[in-house]
Amino acid sequence: MTEAVPVHIDGVELTLRANENLLDACQRSAIELPFSCRAGSCHTCLLRCTEGVVPAQAQRGLRPSLRSLGYLLACQCRPTGAMTLTRPSQADMVTSCQLLTSAGTDASFRFMQFETARLLTCQPGQRLLLVTDAEPAPLIEVTATCPETHMVDALMHCPPGGIFPSWLDAADAFGHEFEVRGPVDGAGDGLAGKADVPVESPAPAPDPALWTELDGGATVRAVLEDFYGQVYEDPLLAPFFQKVTRDRSIDKQYSFLKQLMTGERVYFGDRPRNAHHWMVISNELFDYRQALMVRTLEKHGLTALQIARWTRLELHYRRDIVKSAAWPRHVNGVDLPLDGYANETLSAGTLCDHCGAVIDAGTLVKYHVRLGHISCPGCASGGPQALASSHGACDAAA
Ligand code: HEM
Ligand code: FES
Repeated sequence: MTEAVPVHIDGVELTLRANENLLDACQRSAIELPFSCRAGSCHTCLLRCTEGVVPAQAQRGLRPSLRSLGYLLACQCRPTGAMTLTRPSQADMVTSCQLLTSAGTDASFRFMQFETARLLTCQPGQRLLLVTDAEPAPLIEVTATCPETHMVDALMHCPPGGIFPSWLDAADAFGHEFEVRGPVDGAGDGLAGKADVPVESPAPAPDPALWTELDGGATVRAVLEDFYGQVYEDPLLAPFFQKVTRDRSIDKQYSFLKQLMTGERVYFGDRPRNAHHWMVISNELFDYRQALMVRTLEKHGLTALQIARWTRLELHYRRDIVKSAAWPRHVNGVDLPLDGYANETLSAGTLCDHCGAVIDAGTLVKYHVRLGHISCPGCASGGPQALASSHGACDAAA
């Protein structure tokens, strides 16, 4: 390069100096960019050009699919004209893998365990695409990962009208090398704010064979009784369940799982997005709950394949549950207010949720729009006195 040319990366303009490569220019300008070899071998410094001409040298050694998308190696790139660059997208990345085990004769799933050549930045519940000439390519749904060993547990889904790759069921499948692209979808990233309410996920494909294998529900109930017994004692999970009885949690989850597995309409509670709308649940807490569930399933004798199939159904809802701020309940296309109070004239008598006083029908009360907690006029006035007719705790205090 003889003339200085402008390059935009992450919206920041850089002017490259004569004979400077992109990686050097980023480092001079304190723009974070991963790198290792600085020689075009490791592919760590990958960037994608969205505008401008990519010098051929900058793409040497990259696979054709990445070249055609405008990927380049920053340490090998001496721009010849203006360029706009973005960071690599995980969905475009290909990872080499080696099969360790595969299991399952079900027509729609195969359980597989494999090791990845590089650390796959991927969460349980996200999906990968098998790199193959077959159309459509089978989807691989990750059910567990171990970053230390690069091991992945997953379910391969048979594409509609397609077949599984023949190597998956071969007697010498152990060690088979294959490639995956992705993850091709986002996971709940815990960054959704109040204004960024996702649409409820449609239900995952049912798995009626799993319901049958689990004794038509008997094992599911035994697992849930054990699981919620632990949840209600768990220091991180129990605080969320203060207002819900253990039996209610078990019953709701049982009918929800029955509906997910069988596809029959037997669950009439809130969908997970609304049920958890006020709970700020991080990815770490979500995974913590999943790990507890997996340990419980193992204790009840489920096979690795059955655990992966159960886990698939639950992981599907990560995006509806993980968030960093409460979001409103969404009912009939309308977001209900998240906080605040409203007035209501009672059509039937009830008890004040704060002092326990009896409130007669026809009384104008205040209630919290999210919690539904009713305040009798005495409590709502902010004073120590409850309703004149009350027999509650405020009476005693007054
Ligand atoms: C850390 C993770 C989770 C926490 C802390 C959590 C907490 C809770 C709590 C406190 C409730 C009771 C809500 C109420 O009755 O007002 C609930 C209900 C429920 N949860 Fe979760 N949950 C978690 C993960 C999941 C997952 C992964 C699923 C999906 C399979 C799920 C499905 C449900 C369902 C179906 C209900 C019943 C909704 C209803 O009462 O109508 N939860 N959860
Ligand atoms: S740093 Fe290794 S390819 Fe650029």
